[in-house]
Amino acid sequence: MTYAKITGWGKCVPPTVLTNAEISNFVETTDEWIVSRTGIEERRVTHVQLSELATLAAKRAIAAAGLQGSDIDLVILCTASGDSLIPNTASAVQRNIGAHQAAAFDSNAACTGFLYGIQMATALIQNGSNQRAVVIGADRLNYFINWADRASAVLFGDGAGAVVLEASTEKSGMIASKLGCDTEKRDILEVQGPGTYVDRFHTSACYNVAFEGPEIFKRAINGMNGACTSALESAGLSGDDIDVIVPHQANLRIIQTLAKKMGVSMDKVMVNIEKYGNTSAASVAIALCEAVEQGRVQPGSNILTAAFGAGLTYAGMVIKWGDRVTPINTIDDELPPCDKTATELIQTAIDGCLKATAEGTVNFARSPKA
Ligand SMILES: CC(C)(COP(=O)(O)OP(=O)(O)OC[C@H]1O[C@@H](n2cnc3c(N)ncnc32)[C@H](O)[C@@H]1OP(=O)(O)O)[C@@H](O)C(=O)NCCC(=O)NCCS
Repeated sequence: MTYAKITGWGKCVPPTVLTNAEISNFVETTDEWIVSRTGIEERRVTHVQLSELATLAAKRAIAAAGLQGSDIDLVILCTASGDSLIPNTASAVQRNIGAHQAAAFDSNAACTGFLYGIQMATALIQNGSNQRAVVIGADRLNYFINWADRASAVLFGDGAGAVVLEASTEKSGMIASKLGCDTEKRDILEVQGPGTYVDRFHTSACYNVAFEGPEIFKRAINGMNGACTSALESAGLSGDDIDVIVPHQANLRIIQTLAKKMGVSMDKVMVNIEKYGNTSAASVAIALCEAVEQGRVQPGSNILTAAFGAGLTYAGMVIKWGDRVTPINTIDDELPPCDKTATELIQTAIDGCLKATAEGTVNFARSPKA
């Protein structure tokens, strides 16, 4: 039997920090509300394009695996916020990392994207189509935020994380998973703006993230709990066999409720939401990388991971870690420095969102049927 062992891991978070206090300067909220309702203390705002974050995360993962870009034959970029729709953004990453012979495509399952990507790469390696894949979860949802809307303005951050998967006979990598999509309420989480449903002759200054928080909260827990239970069953494991849980970082209260439902102590749960907020497809990827860096993941660890996102996509997955928790190589590459504060980076967007809200032009007009 062929497995897809995780041999490399890497992350790239932009350096510029947007604190809760800074957000409260332009929208009516408080650090106390944000921390108590979400667990988020700060998030990052990128000064470079999504492909640059994704490239650096991928390069770090490839170095950690002891490989060169040219060894990679498959690049899956899991994102809902690529630089461009056509050409796909994965092709830029493929070129940047020097994986010139690799297939490259974008995959959008929103915040669940990284786990969908691991499932796809594993299947392609198991059926012999590919040998060495890099799967990247990367998003910059701050690009879409309506900074005049306190409900969504406090939740998201930018970043990227990646893993390298290699064909192996060792029982390692993804050993069970359950992917799903709860479409009954697919309209309760929507980025209003980009997409061919928009009337292209109607313009607006402001994209908008429209969502029903409490309903998503409930469905997120149900979706992840069911998927985790199913993945554990397929793997022939129980919660007691799990060494570390790496959940999507959308809300600390969602994570705590999930852990309680799964009967797992919070000591086993990887949490970094306080530093990054919800980085969407990058969330599990960054958390997994940090769980390894912090020594929470040990050789042979059983990892349970779960995510949910727009769609409403959800996933639960059991990953068996390999024999190595230290990188084979590291690289010196860094993002270019940023000389602006986070507020300066998004000031034009803040102004545009406040103006659009005052003028009542936040919502894009839907396209008449073509
Ligand atoms: C968004 C979320 C944090 C809101 O928490 P909540 O406890 O459900 O809060 P509610 O939406 O019920 O709002 C409670 C009150 O806080 C207010 N509020 C909302 N955002 C606020 C903010 N940033 N600052 C201060 N008050 C805020 C609301 O207006 C409401 O006031 P009201 O009671 O006077 O009407 C929570 O529902 C959540 O995390 N949902 C899922 C997140 C999600 O969708 N992520 C994206 C998908 S991965």
